[in-house]
Amino acid sequence: MAGTSSDPRRRRWWRSPASRVLAGVTTVAAAAAVLVTAPGADAAAGTLGAAAAQSGRYFGTAIAGSRLGNSAYTTIAAREFNMVTAENEMKPDATEPNQNQFNFSAGDQIYNWAVSHGSRVRGHTLAWHAQQPGWMQNMSGSNLRNAMINHIQKVMAHYQGKLAYWDVVNEAFNEDGSRRSSNLQSTGNDWIEVAFRTARAADPSVKLCYNDYNIDNWSYGKTQGVYRMIQDFKSRGVPIDCVGLQAHFTGGSSVPGNFQTTLSSFAALGVDVALTEVDVTNSNTAQYSALTQACMNVARCVGITVWGVRDSDSWRSGESPLLFDGNGNKKAAYTSVLNALNAGGTTTTPTTTPTGPTTPTTPTTPTTTPTTPGGGSCSATLSAGQSWGDRYNLNVSVSGSSSWTVTMNVPSPAKISSTWNVNATWPSSQVMVGTPNGSGNNFGVTIMANGNWNWPSVSCS
Ligand code: XIL
Repeated sequence: MAGTSSDPRRRRWWRSPASRVLAGVTTVAAAAAVLVTAPGADAAAGTLGAAAAQSGRYFGTAIAGSRLGNSAYTTIAAREFNMVTAENEMKPDATEPNQNQFNFSAGDQIYNWAVSHGSRVRGHTLAWHAQQPGWMQNMSGSNLRNAMINHIQKVMAHYQGKLAYWDVVNEAFNEDGSRRSSNLQSTGNDWIEVAFRTARAADPSVKLCYNDYNIDNWSYGKTQGVYRMIQDFKSRGVPIDCVGLQAHFTGGSSVPGNFQTTLSSFAALGVDVALTEVDVTNSNTAQYSALTQACMNVARCVGITVWGVRDSDSWRSGESPLLFDGNGNKKAAYTSVLNALNAGGTTTTPTTTPTGPTTPTTPTTPTTTPTTPGGGSCSATLSAGQSWGDRYNLNVSVSGSSSWTVTMNVPSPAKISSTWNVNATWPSSQVMVGTPNGSGNNFGVTIMANGNWNWPSVSCS
C-alpha cells in the first residue's frame, strides 16, 4: 500500500532537532483551574465521541488502512471516535502515484469504513512538501503549479460532498514564521492561496483548513507567521475556514501554558480551530487534560483528533503517546480526556455563536413532508437512518426512473456533511443535487444538525 511508515525519507524531516525544539515552553496549564460552566456537564457520556458531541464537538482518530482487518483495533475505533483522518491514504503519493493517474482505493476503504461506523472524515492532505509522489518531487515552476492545481481538483472532485474538512495545505512554515522552502514554495509565494482558491471551487461543501505543527505557543515565531497568513487571507477574501494544530506533544515538546490563548486568537480571526494529530509523550495525563480543556474553553475549537488508536499503532510508538495501550486497555490519559469532555468548558471567549447544539438532541419529527413526489417521472422518499448527538443519517430511495436528479434543500444552519452512493454537486452550501453514480437508486446522506433537526425538502426530476 502506498504511504507506509517505513520509508526513511518520510521520517527524516521530522527528526530534525531544530524542528522539534520549543525552548522554554514546556509549562502545562495545570494550575490554570477553569470555571466549569458546562454544556452537558451532567451527561457523563461513556465514549470520547459521545462526550465531545455533547458540546457539538467531535473526537477523532487517525486510521491506518493496513489495520482495518484487526478487530481489536476496529472495535475500539468504532466505539470511541466520530471523526476519522486517513493516516497516509489520502496524501499525494497515495492518491496520484503517477501523474494524472489517480488511485483512491486505499482512501476510499478508510472513508467507507468511517461512514459505515457513523463517523465523519477529515481529508488529509492535498499540498505538502512531504509524501509527494516521485514524479512530483522532481517538478518545479509552472509544471508543478499546474500539477498541484490538477491534483487538488481531481482529488476533491472524487470526495466532493463527502468530507467535513480538508487539510488543503500542510506544514508550509519554518520555525521562525517564514515560509518553508520547498518545490511548492519555489513556484511563487502565492501557491498557498492558489491552493485554497482551487479547493473552494472544487468543493464548496467542505471546510478548508491550513494544518501545521509547533503552532501551539502563542508567542512562537511559527505561530505568529501562520496567524498573519490567515489574517491576510481573511482580509483579502482568500477562502479559508479552519486552522489545524497538529499538537504532537512528543519528541521533546509539550503543551504550552498559553495554548488556549493560541486557540482563541486563531478563532478570533473567524476560522474554526481543531487539534488534528494529538499525541503526548508517555500520555502525560495533565497535558492531555490541559489540551482538552483548552479546546473545550474555545467555542470555535470544533474537535480533537488523536494520531492513532493504541500505542502500538502510533507513528511514535516508542513514546507510548496515545489513549489506549497495546492491548487496547484505556490508559489514565483516556480518563482525563473523557472527564474534561464531560465537564464541558467555560464560554468566556466565543467570537461567534457555537455552531453545534449545546446539548444532545433527539431528532424531532420532520416538519417537512418526508416524501415529495417529483415532476411526474420519479419520486424520492426519505427514511431515517442512524442518529447521534450532533447529526443524523437519511436514506433516500428513488423510484420511477433510473436516470434521476434529486435536489435536497437543507434547512439552515444544518448542513450535509457526507453522502454515499450518489454523485453529489453543490449549487450552494444548503443545496445538494444528486445523480446516479452507478450504485443503484438508493443513496444516503449525513446531516450535521447544528441545532436544526428538521429534515430537508427533497424533489426528483
Ligand atoms: C505520518 C504518519 O503517521 C506516518 O505513518 C508516515 O510515515 C509519516 O507521516 N504530520 C502530518 C502527518 O501531517 O501526516 C504525519 O503522519 C505526521 C506529522
